[in-house]
Amino acid sequence: MCGIVGYIGNKQAAPILLGGLEKLEYRGYDSAGIAILDGEKITMEKTKGRLKVLSDKIHGGEDLKGTIGIGHTRWATHGAPSDINSHPHLSRNGRIALVHNGIIENYLQIKALLESEGYTFVSDTDTEVVSHLIDYYYNGNMIDAIIKAIHRIEGSYAFGIISVDHPGELFAVRKSSPLIVGLGNGENYIASDIPAILSHTRDVYFLEDNEIVWIKGADVKVLDVYKHEVKKEVFHVDWDVSAAEKGGYEHFMIKEIMEQPKAIEDTVCPRIQGGNIVLDDIKLTKEQINSLKKIYIIGCGSAYHVGVVGKYVIEKLTRIPVEVELASEFRYRDPIVGKGDLVIIISQSGETADSLAALREAKVRGARVLSVVNVVGSSISRESDDVLYTWAGPEISVATTKAYSTQLQAMYLIALHIGINNGKISEEEKEHYLAEIQTIPSKVGKIIEDVAPLQNYASKKYGSKDIFFLGRGLDYCVALEGSLKLKEISYIHSEAYAAGELKHGPISLIEDGTLVIALATQDSLFEKLLSNIKEVKARGATVFAIAQEGNTEIEKEADFVVYIPKIDNLFAPSLTVVPLQLFSYYVAVNKGCDVDKPRNLAKSVTVE
Ligand code: F6R
Repeated sequence: MCGIVGYIGNKQAAPILLGGLEKLEYRGYDSAGIAILDGEKITMEKTKGRLKVLSDKIHGGEDLKGTIGIGHTRWATHGAPSDINSHPHLSRNGRIALVHNGIIENYLQIKALLESEGYTFVSDTDTEVVSHLIDYYYNGNMIDAIIKAIHRIEGSYAFGIISVDHPGELFAVRKSSPLIVGLGNGENYIASDIPAILSHTRDVYFLEDNEIVWIKGADVKVLDVYKHEVKKEVFHVDWDVSAAEKGGYEHFMIKEIMEQPKAIEDTVCPRIQGGNIVLDDIKLTKEQINSLKKIYIIGCGSAYHVGVVGKYVIEKLTRIPVEVELASEFRYRDPIVGKGDLVIIISQSGETADSLAALREAKVRGARVLSVVNVVGSSISRESDDVLYTWAGPEISVATTKAYSTQLQAMYLIALHIGINNGKISEEEKEHYLAEIQTIPSKVGKIIEDVAPLQNYASKKYGSKDIFFLGRGLDYCVALEGSLKLKEISYIHSEAYAAGELKHGPISLIEDGTLVIALATQDSLFEKLLSNIKEVKARGATVFAIAQEGNTEIEKEADFVVYIPKIDNLFAPSLTVVPLQLFSYYVAVNKGCDVDKPRNLAKSVTVE
């Protein structure tokens, strides 16, 4: 959460910073600010509200002159969104300005120390202590002061720092929060994420924990905490800048829903070669596969929901027991995991704090970690033993769609890879599954071809107060995701239940007119689901059902039906989720919600 950006070069910095922040607004958007270093003075403007408020206030950046600067878009953790709590934060004499993404866990202790030294604080943030702390340690050498400060602080951080005592310089450092350096021609950048700088450069350094960036004029140095220079490899970003633009769509979310056929194809097809699964990036040997005792799948939010599908799929295809867990629970519950276990971490951003902590916990205990990640070079991908990238391209909308769909494909690929290698999938089954999985892109394409019925239905149902999602087996797994999608962007209360659980409590919530979304794509459970639909109908519910083409019997019970193309039941989640994404999207649009930036949420949850 929070986005930081910095520029040093010979152009006016403020408009460049505002442009970068616009691309980072998905990381937080309750306030924004920038500080510009102009010779020996820092000018700063910051304000509560969206970036647009800041931009209007400083006339698109024209009001702040200078060619070096730092900017920030905030997702509040410590201190409510307000002008004063917005970043940048200044040191007591105004000589240092700093932006921060992360959380300083021991800020109260440091604050007490600094107060006893005569420092006073103007904000409620944890960040302000760091600008004062660097000032406290500053003795003419900024790098020394930064190193002393990071030794003193606990928590996660990416800092961008400027100082009037270093008029041609920009500093940055990170630990457990993402930060990249963009390398331009005579000008350089720092940013939380690639889209912020992509219109200026495609060459970047990914920083490791506690690497310090020191940019002086056009010279970029990366140092370790002993002040030794670190040789960094330049990573060339090859995706198109338009991938991170709306491209004519009203919202990123709908654009990303529409991109799913390609994203799935890019993730799956290159990995099927000559009738086999080829996972070049996974070094897990056949012997290791055959001695796997247990598999854990770990993630947060939608990534966790992918894991729930993954459990069903991997257990079915490999006969290895799978446990799926929320990262925030796994990391603190002293899990029984170790050598011989495979831990699969799923994360779009590759920076989610709980998922990263779970990964570290698993590694410390001796498990092998395979991550399924979308953002290349992210912390989770770097710290894993194996990485299976989802080739979804940049996902900007806070609510995930194409990343979820490509993560599902990663589950299938992993399950097939293991099942083929441990002999649980026969040649004939392999052929069948490989043929089926390759039909997913075109079948998703067929679903998104005609969105009008869903758009129309959403326009009638957007006033609902509560919406319930029901399903059995893999449909239950998708119901979890459908419900999350709806609530996060439309603010309608919604819950997902395994349909067999209805009679054990939730049915008491059904009353006249309650909308129930019933997923009925699993052939072996179809009749059971029909009975559940009858039960809720008998209590007054209105039912929107999703079924496979041909199962028209459902029309007798449901009020509105969407059919997905016929597919092996195992792969149905890849199709079922799409009408649910579309329904949520159109409900939110009808309600006038800010679809891409839902309240209180941020895309990359880099704090606990
Ligand atoms: C929901 C959503 C979140 C993320 C979760 C994990 O639409 O996007 O629930 O799935 O925050 O994020 P990553 O995948 O980046 O670890």
